[in-house]
Amino acid sequence: MSVAALNEQIRNCRKCRLWQGATQAVPGEGPLDAKVMLVGQNPGAEEDRTGRPFVGRAGKFLNKTLVENGINREELFITNIVKHMTPGNRKPSADEIASCLPYLLEQIRIIKPKIIVLLGAAAKAAPRVEGIEYVEIVHPSAAMRFASMREKFRTQIAMLAKRLQQLS
Ligand code: URA
Repeated sequence: MSVAALNEQIRNCRKCRLWQGATQAVPGEGPLDAKVMLVGQNPGAEEDRTGRPFVGRAGKFLNKTLVENGINREELFITNIVKHMTPGNRKPSADEIASCLPYLLEQIRIIKPKIIVLLGAAAKAAPRVEGIEYVEIVHPSAAMRFASMREKFRTQIAMLAKRLQQLS
């Protein structure tokens, strides 16, 4: 399946209830030959407004930390476990995750990343595909809130930058 066709399916998805409270789906973005895929849990209000992943406060913090470590956001494919905003930014439920996972699996199949970086709670929900290296890191919203998490997040992004250099 092409990414355009997949995104169309995601935008029209009615498999769970989340579309009802959302303005639009947030399928994800990035180059189709990205070596690294970044996966968060669910879009928030700003992502819902723009249709793009990680563009709100957490996204800005993520971008800043990537830049500090010489990582270009445009090189990464960025998406979420569930593709619609959740009401009040609550945790997606097990059935919402189960409904949405085929989309993430198809994105993985198309992009074939070498590394998948799971942010925060995405680590619990993400399917593990054989042959792909998984890295679990602190979620940028936790990093913004707690100093200890911030330090950990920075260290983890620095380690990711090193790993990226080894890949290219
Ligand atoms: N937090 C996430 O997990 N995903 C987004 O797209 C934005 C914030």
